[in-house]
Amino acid sequence: MVPSSTICFRLSLLALLFAFSAAAALVEDGELVNGDFETPPTGGFSSEAGISDGPVSIPGWKTNGTVEVVESGQKQGGMILIVPQGAHAVRLGNDAEISQEVAVEKGALYSVTFSAARTCAQLESLNVSVPPASQTIDLQTLYSIQGWDTYAWAFQAAEAEARVVFRNPGMEDDPTCGPIIDDIAIKKLFVPDRPKDNAVVNGDFEEGPWMFRNESLGVLLPTNLDEETSSLPGWMVESNRAVRYVDSNHFTVPGGKRAVELLSGKEGIISQMVETKPNKPYRLTFSLGQGGDACKQPLAVMVFAGDQAENIHYTPDSNSTFQTANVNFTSKAERTRVAFYSVYYNTRTDDLSSLCGPVVDDVRVELSGSSKARFGGLGFMLLMVLMLV
Ligand SMILES: *[C@@H]1O[C@H](CO)[C@@H](O)[C@H](O)[C@H]1NC(C)=O
Ligand SMILES: *[C@@H]1O[C@H](CO)[C@@H](O)[C@H](O)[C@H]1NC(C)=O
Ligand SMILES: *[C@@H]1O[C@H](CO)[C@@H](O)[C@H](O)[C@H]1NC(C)=O
Ligand SMILES: *[C@@H]1O[C@H](CO)[C@@H](O)[C@H](O)[C@H]1NC(C)=O
Ligand SMILES: *[C@@H]1O[C@H](CO)[C@@H](O)[C@H](O)[C@H]1NC(C)=O
Repeated sequence: MVPSSTICFRLSLLALLFAFSAAAALVEDGELVNGDFETPPTGGFSSEAGISDGPVSIPGWKTNGTVEVVESGQKQGGMILIVPQGAHAVRLGNDAEISQEVAVEKGALYSVTFSAARTCAQLESLNVSVPPASQTIDLQTLYSIQGWDTYAWAFQAAEAEARVVFRNPGMEDDPTCGPIIDDIAIKKLFVPDRPKDNAVVNGDFEEGPWMFRNESLGVLLPTNLDEETSSLPGWMVESNRAVRYVDSNHFTVPGGKRAVELLSGKEGIISQMVETKPNKPYRLTFSLGQGGDACKQPLAVMVFAGDQAENIHYTPDSNSTFQTANVNFTSKAERTRVAFYSVYYNTRTDDLSSLCGPVVDDVRVELSGSSKARFGGLGFMLLMVLMLV
């Protein structure tokens, strides 16, 4: 006989669970549950518990295939495995995957930030998906000497439940090869309104993917030809290689807290299709700077705007870390492409393996000879009149 009080308790517990699941809280911006893989599995990490044969259990994550928790300092074939942050990360074997379900707002735009390193093969890649959306991120190019990079990928939530999946699509002969991932976070993005006097959306780059406060090397934005689902709202990365999203905590940024560093020469292009009136004179203005990351000069960007393409060198005033540049152009249609890439392939002076480049910020496109200046004068006169009255 089970005492009725116990049944009562069980029922209320059930009710509580039910209420809880009905009001599943939306995922918060920041790290996913155990997104840094530092939470010990029941029984501890295998190094502490001895090698176990069964499938690994990683708190917060579902796995399929050979998924291994690797530890910093762990060696393999004489090489020390790279753990991006903390003491642990996971490695995905051939065709292996890890996934976590998060509650999201249906229809909203989200960006996933994660760090990845390759282990042996030159051609390792990672398939990031929230089905049906997916992207394969090529880990071939190493952008920094530390051996790992942080990337962002965006998706639009088709449902209120999103399963974030990382899969190694590789089929290496050596089953102990495969990418290492760490530090997985999510952020709900918003698309800033187009300012009244500027045709560029998010021209100051303030809205973008999640960045860990101590992520000193920025976040790479890989190829993304879909302007609707971009980790950098409004912008596309229309090249094979990535551009880097940087913050003012670790880089010199011309305006606000965020900017973009063009670090892949002609292979790292950001662009936006801006709304224009056909056959009108426009002016594109932007800040061109250096990121304060010891990037070896010269720095220069190639800028495209309508019928113009110009090569602009970074030549700031003595004490400034950036300059303002402009390009006059005539629009040809209702939409005009504005694009930037770095003219040179730059590396840091203190480390010739880390890529860097010019920093672009505060991009504006406005009708030139627009009424702005005259209007300012008019406003001033009106103010004078009002003050006199
Ligand atoms: C695990 O992956 C295999 C092969 O990709 C697939 O056939 C199987 O259905 C997956 N299992 C689960 C539980 O998802
Ligand atoms: C990536 O994974 C998704 C979901 O598993 C799949 O639909 C997609 O085809 C994969 N993409 C590539 C390039 O393998
Ligand atoms: C940042 O630093 C804190 C505290 O030092 C640490 O707990 C966290 O894991 C770090 N995150 C990253 C991404 O390095
Ligand atoms: C540059 O900065 C130095 C030291 O802060 C100052 O002495 C100098 O006048 C500045 N030069 C200009 C052109 O502003
Ligand atoms: C663009 O035109 C304005 C005048 O409308 C002029 O002040 C500016 O120098 C021009 N910019 C370039 C790069 O020619």
